Amino acid sequence: MEKSATRIDWIGNSCRLLKATAAEFERTRPFEGLSIGTGIHLEPKTVALLMTLRAGGARLVCTGNLNSTQPSTVEFLRSQGITVFATQTTDPAAHHQSLEAVIAEKPDLLLDNGGDLFAIAAEKPYANLRGGTEETTSGRTRLLLLRERLNMPILVINDSPIKQFAENRHAVGQSLFESYLRFTNRSTNGKRVTVFGYGACGKGTAACFRNAFSTVSVVDIDPVTTLEAHLDGFVTPLRDAAIRSADIIVTVTGFAAIVTAADLPLVKDGAILMNGGHFPHEIDVEAFRRHPDVVGIDRYEADHIETFHLSDGRSFHLLGGGHMANLAGPRPLGNTVESMDLGFTLQARCLERIARGEAGAQSCLVPVPSDIDALVANAYLDLTR
Ligand SMILES: NC(=O)c1ccc[n+]([C@@H]2O[C@H](COP(=O)([O-])OP(=O)(O)OC[C@H]3O[C@@H](n4cnc5c(N)ncnc54)[C@H](O)[C@@H]3O)[C@@H](O)[C@H]2O)c1
Repeated sequence: MEKSATRIDWIGNSCRLLKATAAEFERTRPFEGLSIGTGIHLEPKTVALLMTLRAGGARLVCTGNLNSTQPSTVEFLRSQGITVFATQTTDPAAHHQSLEAVIAEKPDLLLDNGGDLFAIAAEKPYANLRGGTEETTSGRTRLLLLRERLNMPILVINDSPIKQFAENRHAVGQSLFESYLRFTNRSTNGKRVTVFGYGACGKGTAACFRNAFSTVSVVDIDPVTTLEAHLDGFVTPLRDAAIRSADIIVTVTGFAAIVTAADLPLVKDGAILMNGGHFPHEIDVEAFRRHPDVVGIDRYEADHIETFHLSDGRSFHLLGGGHMANLAGPRPLGNTVESMDLGFTLQARCLERIARGEAGAQSCLVPVPSDIDALVANAYLDLTR
């Protein structure tokens, strides 16, 4: 029998770990009688996580993050009877209202991304909040300042080694590489690529371009990390030389002003610039736009590519306006399903731990417990054997 299926079905069926976890949760019901408030990107991969939590008995109250809410995901969740307060918006005030609406429901557990929900809960405490999870490092940094008031278990997913290597290293590298191909339809073989930042994300990015027959240079501000890149077989020139030689420049540092207008004299004719870091400030695009040496800009609107023409006849191209390239441009898919399946299974298991009362206030803002890492790693490996 033939039936039509949706992207949400495809992603849900591809999240094999979450599917197995959901089947277990249907039997064990760790969230029976509990509500979970969530504040994380509302897109198909998150649906797989939310349906897993619901299989465990949770009543869900959901919102998303600024700018990333997909209306079809919201529609689907509502069709499943899940409460969603979210609109696709770039307006922080409108987004804040949705966050407030989630907290007003007084969920027993929170699943947070960037500390938005816990920050409101710290301001407006309520008795039944047991704790929850935080996805990011930036959220942890923010919530550490509120630790006294939060005094409850909050497990930080980004600090798990699994998140570090499965998502930041392997998935970001792959998806930035895929994004270069998706945006440009250009080749990688024989190209000279410079990667700024050799942290987890930079390592994966450098490796993916090298595997695609590019000559990859790495620039990192930390000499020890640069030495690591050198011993990993990458070229490690000084930054000016690395910019001059590059056909493709990728920034993935997490810091601002990595490539600036002061670098315009160095940029090779025809170079392609893209960013993979969280904020769109690594490449100083605004300074390019108003620089007197920039005499023209061609905008390929549908492809989200801009070509900057310089007064000396050179030109260079910018992908996705300098936003995270794997979440920008036509049909952005973000990181791989498998990496998110792993990260979201960590989320589900951490919430289970807190729901069962097996993590106390001393676990406020700590990494994922190592036994959960081991459980999730074994479950993934078992699926591959
Ligand atoms: N695109 C995505 O899907 C995605 C996913 C996860 C993380 N990120 C983002 O990617 C960025 C990097 O994350 P990470 O986990 O690799 O961080 P990290 O801290 O592991 O690595 C960053 C590296 O950049 C280096 N660096 C800092 N300033 C520099 C400079 N001026 N020049 C050269 N190198 C410099 C640091 O020394 C470090 O080695 C962050 O903004 C993170 O939020 C993006």
